[in-house]
Parts: sequence; C-alpha cells; structure tokens
Amino acid sequence: MLQKVRPFEAGDVEAVARIFENVPDGWSKAALEDSLANNSIKSFVLEAQGDAAAFASYLVADDAELVFIVTAENHKRKGCGGMLLGKTLEILGLPCVLEVRESNTPAIKLYEKLGFKLLGTRRNFYSNPRESALIYKLDL
Ligand SMILES: CC(C)(COP(=O)(O)OP(=O)(O)OC[C@H]1O[C@@H](n2cnc3c(N)ncnc32)[C@H](O)[C@@H]1OP(=O)(O)O)[C@@H](O)C(=O)NCCC(=O)NCCS
Repeated sequence: MLQKVRPFEAGDVEAVARIFENVPDGWSKAALEDSLANNSIKSFVLEAQGDAAAFASYLVADDAELVFIVTAENHKRKGCGGMLLGKTLEILGLPCVLEVRESNTPAIKLYEKLGFKLLGTRRNFYSNPRESALIYKLDL
C-alpha cells in the first residue's frame, strides 16, 4: 500500500474529523482548526492511497508530548499507527512522553512496540469512565 507521512493541513480537517467521529474524547472540527493556529502543536497525517488514514498530534516544547494518535477504522491493524508514530518521532527528533488509559491495550502495545518505557501511573487521572493513566516515555 502506498503510504506517506506529512504535516496536517487545513485541507485535512474534514477527513480527520470523520476519523475522530466514533472516538471517545476525539477532537471536533473546531478543535482541529484551532490546533492549526497553535505553534506549540505539531500534527501529522498518514496518507494511504491518497486518503487520510491516521492522524497524530504532539505538544512540542523541550520534549514532545503525544496528545493523540488515531487510525481510521478501515485502516486499523495495517501498520498505519506504527508507521505514523515512528516517522513523526524521527521528524521531531525529541524525547517523547505520553499518557494512556490503562485499559487501552491497542495503544499500549503500539507504544511498547516502538520502544516506549513505562514511567509510572497517575491514579484516577481520567473521568468518564474514571480510570488511571499510564505514563510512558521514549528517550532519544
Ligand atoms: C492505537 C491505534 C492508533 C493503533 O493504530 P493501528 O494503525 O491499528 O496500529 P498498527 O496496525 O500500526 O499496529 C502496531 C502495533 O500496535 C499494536 N496493536 C494495534 N492494534 C492492536 C489491537 N487491537 N490489539 C492489540 N495490539 C494492537 C500491535 O502491537 C501492533 O503490532 P502488530 O500488528 O505487529 O501486532 C488505533 O487502535 C486507534 O486509533 N485507537 C483509537 C484511538 C486511541 O485510543 N489512540 C490512543 C490514545 S490517544
């Protein structure tokens, strides 16, 4: 499959908002538009056969913090998330931290596959449903 990772741009908002439609806490169209105007947020899209198939967004300062990564339902388990995460970490060239719900096995497996190490737990960090967060870090 022809895949390409590139910066997220205004023309991707509709397609990425559709990917987020059935994702709990997913970003709205307005939130995606706002993120484009924020210099601290760097977002990327993985295109597969010309379609936006996955999206990743980071808060960038001294470190990169992965804020969200999501793959469209019809592109899951085809290596898109792994490729997008790997390539964008390479592009950013910074250590990366992230928080993830402790029940989110697909994401946890993805992060561990890419070499992220568990730093600790934040108890009851999330609401709706209440759940602890696992904190992961990838050093350069
Ligand atoms: C997490 C997510 C981005 C993974 O995307 P993906 O494109 O399906 O991932 P990949 O195909 O690249 O898989 C890479 C690895 O992740 C792990 N993985 C992905 N989906 C998995 C699943 N359903 N169960 C177990 N492990 C899984 C595996 O280790 C996999 O490697 P493998 O295929 O060699 O076993 C996707 O499941 C998703 O969009 N989830 C909803 C949003 C979310 O929770 N994001 C994370 C918090 S912000």
